[in-house]
Amino acid sequence: MNDTLMTTYNRLPVSFTKGSGIWLEASDGRRYLDALSGIAVCGLGHAHPAISAAISEQSSQLLHTSNLYGIEKQQQLADRLTDITGMEKAFFCNSGAEANECAIKIARRVGHQRGIQTPGIIVMEGSFHGRTLATLTATANEGAKKGFGPLVEGFFRAPYNNPDAVAAFSDNPDIVAVLVEPIQGEGGIQIPAEDYLEQLREICNQNNWLLMLDEIQSGTGRTGHWFACNGAGVSPDVITVAKGLGNGVPIGVCLAREDAAAALVPGSHGTTFGGNPLCCATALAVLDTIENENLLQNAASTGQYLLDLLREGLGHADGITDIRGIGLLLAIELERPCGELVQKALDNNLLINVTAGNVIRLLPPLITTREQAAEIAAGLIPLVQNFLNKNHDQTT
Ligand SMILES: Cc1ncc(COP(=O)(O)O)c(C=O)c1O
Repeated sequence: MNDTLMTTYNRLPVSFTKGSGIWLEASDGRRYLDALSGIAVCGLGHAHPAISAAISEQSSQLLHTSNLYGIEKQQQLADRLTDITGMEKAFFCNSGAEANECAIKIARRVGHQRGIQTPGIIVMEGSFHGRTLATLTATANEGAKKGFGPLVEGFFRAPYNNPDAVAAFSDNPDIVAVLVEPIQGEGGIQIPAEDYLEQLREICNQNNWLLMLDEIQSGTGRTGHWFACNGAGVSPDVITVAKGLGNGVPIGVCLAREDAAAALVPGSHGTTFGGNPLCCATALAVLDTIENENLLQNAASTGQYLLDLLREGLGHADGITDIRGIGLLLAIELERPCGELVQKALDNNLLINVTAGNVIRLLPPLITTREQAAEIAAGLIPLVQNFLNKNHDQTT
């Protein structure tokens, strides 16, 4: 499309000029049903009046001052997020990877305070934590790491959804933390056993390890709870949040319990933009809107409705391995790679994503109505059926 951009993305041949609710409009005037929300970011859809108003009002007063000064909106947002999560301290940044960097740095400092020279963090197979060097190392995908060595030391990997494999590190005195997604997003919407987080909490308690949850994709209402750990009834030591928190305005946050957060002192970590008035005013409006419009409840019920429709339409089809979801975080897993479905859906005015090669990922906005969920299902089901039939014909 434009050869002055670095070639980090294979972009689809469309660009959008405006949006409204769950709909996006392309430069040629075509309208698309957005079942991806900018990869779990625009939970309130596009051009939500409450968000536009918050951005407009804040931008007419003050955009940025830096963290050298007090920032009222940052303090309010920290109060709100610590209230919701039961954490005690917040560090604001600009992205998910940065929120995880902060978590990793907290774990490292805690380790050094305990006299551990080479502190280790357990991460999972199938994980995704970001693209900075440390978060890339924590990420499982070998392809994403290729050509970027030397990577960062101090990460140990265990299979996902396997608490015993984590407990097996108990005899390693270097371990200080477990970093895990409550539901793996990029790894294919992997939903672990109901008591997985509870078991990890127990193992971390026994070993004096920090339990650090990456809720960057699973958080801010997507699962029908504020955070997946609220739904699981588990209180971690650290939670990282980004994506949906700003509805498109870049903001991330690392939330922590007081004793873990105390590892960071003035000068040990920082950011120029993080937590500026604009981002924090927007995030406050996002939280207010989720509350005012009952969107946690909507994500849970509309998500279940969409899941039921997909199971009804595709559950018995040959070539489907699983249809799963929690809230508006949904997946249809196929037996074979199905990346071409993204373009097919685009041709049919529907935005979806395929991750882990063979998993159709749906992340519709939290504002999605039952009628819109039915529209998504009605658009997607025949595309998947045609794809399966075509593949079936080719192999018989
Ligand atoms: C679970 C998880 N962690 C971290 C990240 C990285 O976030 P960002 O792209 O904002 O750096 C992502 C992004 O997809 C994610 O899904």
